[in-house]
Amino acid sequence: MGHTLLITSSPRGADSLSTRFANEIAEGIQARTGGTLTVRDLAANPPPHITAAYIQGRITAPEDRTLEQAEAVKVAQDLVDELKAADVIVLGSGMINFGLPSQLKAWFDHVTWPRVTFGYGDTGPKGLLTGKKVYLVTAAGGVFSEGAWAPFDFQTHYLLHLLGFIGLTDVEVVRVEGTVLGADAVKAAIANAETAIEALLAKAA
Ligand SMILES: Cc1cc2nc3c(=O)[nH]c(=O)nc-3n(C[C@H](O)[C@H](O)[C@H](O)COP(=O)(O)O)c2cc1C
Repeated sequence: MGHTLLITSSPRGADSLSTRFANEIAEGIQARTGGTLTVRDLAANPPPHITAAYIQGRITAPEDRTLEQAEAVKVAQDLVDELKAADVIVLGSGMINFGLPSQLKAWFDHVTWPRVTFGYGDTGPKGLLTGKKVYLVTAAGGVFSEGAWAPFDFQTHYLLHLLGFIGLTDVEVVRVEGTVLGADAVKAAIANAETAIEALLAKAA
């Protein structure tokens, strides 16, 4: 039993494969472990871009914040609380212009918070959200796990870095690749993802 947070972020709605497979993982974990689930759809409800009110607000004592600062910090605090409450995080991301959807970047800009989700240790920054399991589903039109385009995967590597920076280092990655390379490529990408997810869920049971 545990609590799962499902975060989806693709702006492609019902066509999104990262959303489809992130859903499948979250539902599979729930079915196997009987835990609870919170769904955060960043495409439907994108966090705002961060502002001066947020940046100033988070270094200002709560009692001294302006109303605007307090409101901006509350957005981040709610997202962090949701993240802290989760034992398992399932994150779906579909490549947009070689990186992550801007909705997901805005979410990271809120939850990557000094002294709240990362601190500064003797040897440098130290993630504070430890002890959680993450399943990361990254979809992309091209193939980036190997070959000529591998150096241009600014999605999966960046996401792994951002997650690790806040302490989320236990990450299983499911890649759904080649989704714009024709029907056969999509079929293969879906079959590969299904196989990978089946194996991961068997381990989660
Ligand atoms: C606006 C836009 C930009 C995209 N940029 C890229 C890109 O830079 N590289 C790539 O390989 N695929 C790109 N794609 C294709 C998507 O990565 C692909 O459709 C993927 O399946 C999206 O994830 P999703 O299925 O979860 O929505 C782009 C798609 C859209 C709609």
